[in-house]
Amino acid sequence: MATEARSTLARMLAEVTPGDLTMSFFTNGGAEANENAIKLARWYTGRHKVIARYRSYHGATAGAMTLTGDPRRWPAEPGIPGVVRMLDPYTYRCPAGHPDPCPVCTGAPHLEEILQYEGPNTVAAVILETITGTNGIIVPPDGYLQSIRDVCDRHGIVLICDEVMAGFGRTGKWFGVDNWDVVPDILTVAKGINSGYVPLGAMVVREPIAEWVRDKYFAGGLTYSGHPLACASAIASIEAFKEEGIVEHSGAMGDVFAERLHGLADRHPSIGDVRGLGCFWGIELVKNRETREPLVPFNATGEAFAPVARLAKAALDRGLYLMTHWNVVMVCPPLTVTPEEIDEGIAILDEALAVADEHTA
Ligand SMILES: Cc1ncc(COP(=O)(O)O)c(C=O)c1O
Repeated sequence: MATEARSTLARMLAEVTPGDLTMSFFTNGGAEANENAIKLARWYTGRHKVIARYRSYHGATAGAMTLTGDPRRWPAEPGIPGVVRMLDPYTYRCPAGHPDPCPVCTGAPHLEEILQYEGPNTVAAVILETITGTNGIIVPPDGYLQSIRDVCDRHGIVLICDEVMAGFGRTGKWFGVDNWDVVPDILTVAKGINSGYVPLGAMVVREPIAEWVRDKYFAGGLTYSGHPLACASAIASIEAFKEEGIVEHSGAMGDVFAERLHGLADRHPSIGDVRGLGCFWGIELVKNRETREPLVPFNATGEAFAPVARLAKAALDRGLYLMTHWNVVMVCPPLTVTPEEIDEGIAILDEALAVADEHTA
């Protein structure tokens, strides 16, 4: 059965997503959107490999967990077959040592080299978080996404952008890809699609793939996929986004964050890097700005994580909840945050960072 809410939401998504992303398939959340994206990419191309990055999280179901590069994957290994790893455009800690031009951070040379070894005709898809979320709010350098797009086009590979975190205004644009005018073949979304009121996700597909799949049976639906209640909440949320100018507001708050967070970096030696867009920022903490040694090591837990745990406690004691991931503090407030609220949070962070500064050399 068709439902009014589902088709209205699909039409709205076609309007707010860029280019010819026109067809939506609804899911219960983000992981399931990614599962269906790789399922569709494999079916469409007749190939099986999927290239994913290390500093990534794509969800906790079997396939999405295998796509995930961070240690949350380890207990679920070996996972699904065919996932190949590529490095991240992490300019602050470039895995290639960041020569100029950098083969990893510019995108194409690194991906081309991997394809040479893997065989481009075996690769169905490249999946990446447009702007990396929990793995450190990594904003790719200008040109990176376009160059990945070009390589995918050259080899008939489906580009999947996971915007479960970055989508729906988080970066000051409707979608993260809009910051670089790149259109992926499949965009996966959840969370902000309906401001999280009830479970909902989607994969939005570009016209050539939509055209190909339209008369086929795509075996991806679950009992509750595209539930009318979830779709109705997304319609209401997107309407509110438009009426209240939420996306534009998020972009404007990005200027406030840039100014305030760089101000904090001027005062606190524990801040090694500040990066972000809109209401999507990360503060990377270090022991030493020169060596960039992280304040706590990769995958730190227990005593090794204590410096960041103490910082988070100091903030919470003052009324500010911090989401942290190893040595990165995420600054990702609701998109309705006001400059006054930002100042209130920054003032608390300013005090709490003294705890992190004690661990610097
Ligand atoms: C970038 C990204 N992709 C996928 C997911 C998985 O989404 P869900 O938890 O809705 O399955 C998440 C969840 O945090 C995410 O941040």
